[in-house]
Amino acid sequence: MKILFFVLLLLSHNAFAEPYAKADAVAGKALIEKNCISCHASSYGGDGSAIYTREFHKVSTSKGLVAQVRNCNTMLGLKWFEDEELNAAKYLNNTYYKFAE
Ligand code: HEC
Repeated sequence: MKILFFVLLLLSHNAFAEPYAKADAVAGKALIEKNCISCHASSYGGDGSAIYTREFHKVSTSKGLVAQVRNCNTMLGLKWFEDEELNAAKYLNNTYYKFAE
């Protein structure tokens, strides 16, 4: 019984962990550099990263970040798989947003 409780605790904890906890940020960086930077850079200059750090940036939670990456993926017709979306989200979070969960 104790073990069951522990397992449930672990599961419920995972439910609140950042959605891309197990994703690969290095792979995400490569995906973003290939598909996403040029357009942001043409509006925001430099490497385009100011779009993530601008004062009133759109994304404010890790879930919102995944949703935005998904929107851009769909809008651009990139056909990334879900794990690729999560890799990209993790890279953006590690580098710019830094949401704890
Ligand atoms: C064709 C141009 C274009 C491309 C390509 C593009 N984006 Fe965007 N992206 C935008 C624009 C414009 C916004 C700002 C939208 C707004 O302010 O409502 C944006 C906003 C974002 C934001 C939110 C920034 C914030 O305010 O917090 C993220 C995250 C993002 N894009 C990720 C991506 C990813 C990941 C890709 C590659 C799959 C990508 N974008 C490709 C145009 C583009």
